[in-house]
Amino acid sequence: MERECRFGIEGMSVHVPRHCIDLGTLAAARGIDPAKYYEGLGGRRMAVVSPDEDPVTMAAEAARRLVARHDVDRSEIGMVVVGSETGVDAAKPIASYVHGLIGLSPQCRTFDTQHACYGATAALQLAAGWCIQGNGSRRKAIVIATDIARYEVGSAGEPTQGAGAIAMLVSCEPRVVAFDRHDEAVFTQDVMDFWRPHYRSTAMVDGRHSLDCYLRALEHTWDAYLGSSGLRFEDFRHLLFHVPFPKMAHKAFHRLHELEAARRGVAMPPAEAMFDTLTRPSLWANVEVGNIYSGSLYLALAGLLEQGDAAIEGARLGLFSYGSGCCAEFYSVLVGPDATAWRGRIGVAEALAGRVEVDYPTYVEMRTRSEGMAGDGSFREPVHPGNGRVRFLGVRDHRRVYQAHISPGGDQLRSCTSRACAGAGSG
Ligand code: CAA
Repeated sequence: MERECRFGIEGMSVHVPRHCIDLGTLAAARGIDPAKYYEGLGGRRMAVVSPDEDPVTMAAEAARRLVARHDVDRSEIGMVVVGSETGVDAAKPIASYVHGLIGLSPQCRTFDTQHACYGATAALQLAAGWCIQGNGSRRKAIVIATDIARYEVGSAGEPTQGAGAIAMLVSCEPRVVAFDRHDEAVFTQDVMDFWRPHYRSTAMVDGRHSLDCYLRALEHTWDAYLGSSGLRFEDFRHLLFHVPFPKMAHKAFHRLHELEAARRGVAMPPAEAMFDTLTRPSLWANVEVGNIYSGSLYLALAGLLEQGDAAIEGARLGLFSYGSGCCAEFYSVLVGPDATAWRGRIGVAEALAGRVEVDYPTYVEMRTRSEGMAGDGSFREPVHPGNGRVRFLGVRDHRRVYQAHISPGGDQLRSCTSRACAGAGSG
């Protein structure tokens, strides 16, 4: 007989690149009023990747922290799924590199999911379903969202770039948030709002059209979710949205407020005051990091859980996930008890605290060198020790080479993937 299984997220960890640029610095270089970026788009800074960082290193760092801080038994992980739209290889998934770098058991499924910024939500749903099928056994999966949001230099999308990774432990012991079981509220439409052809390192976007597609998908999934769940607007303590730039979450909230006012036929409390309570507390980290594509919604979730009010336990959160192309989903989660036991382990503020702000020429140089790492022959012998983190050293013989430092404690990276790193670990 099937045993009742609650399922959801047992632990989360965040990783962001070591460098960032203030959007005011970018605005000055573009001759644009900084208020357009600060107020019009709602951002403050955006993450900048170094040549030794890529979607694999960010995913491995987030997963390493997850394993160490949430006391994960590596032998219990039976699935690693990475949601990303900046995959590093057309065949080998990021999940496979991460599996090796953090030293998981061979009895483990590894694969990536891709649908623009929706990829991690698809991965979470898949992993949760797999945990439930375990029928009471201790199945655990690691789901990671990792992405580098990169647009053309000087384009309208440039101030909405960013990078980072969120790792989540999915299981039937959902200490952090439990998924609520309701009928699916999903929406798909074949649209060209944002895409990235294989031959490009930067995204293409039809900016205004992408906003319309996002809001249309929000309306469809919100209506479907309320219809199938019987829940009402006031049942949500917080409403979280995919955050391509923070002002988009503001637009999304306002759209739901309008829909709700029309549904009720009476005046609602002012939208701005409700936004300040229901959505703004989830955005502080996104304001600092920029877009992480598949991880943006989960960075908002991590930020809210880490710094939301103490009474958040038991609260219902509504989550809207949007991936251009497009596929969207609205679902809800219930925050677990005993937040003091897990909120300090998520590590958002800690990840942001150690960052170095760069000037405009350094930003341009770093992105140029970073994009140059994609081709064969970019490999360079490391001149520095690993400093305790995983580093991308470049491509040699069509193989990506990573260096990982091994420490005796639990917070370790087990191996690296190349003979070039023989001194640092075994492959
Ligand atoms: N002071 C204050 N605000 C100002 C200002 C100033 N001096 N100048 C302009 N603004 C405001 C504008 O009024 C506008 O606000 P509203 O949208 O509320 O009217 C805002 O700043 C942006 O100005 P523009 O519309 O003129 O900006 P733009 O055309 O240069 O580009 C953008 C905006 C289309 C969002 C562009 O940044 C872009 O293409 N971004 C990437 C695409 C994207 O993020 N799409 C989101 C939906 S798709 C998705 O979610 C998937 C994903 O992750 C990409």
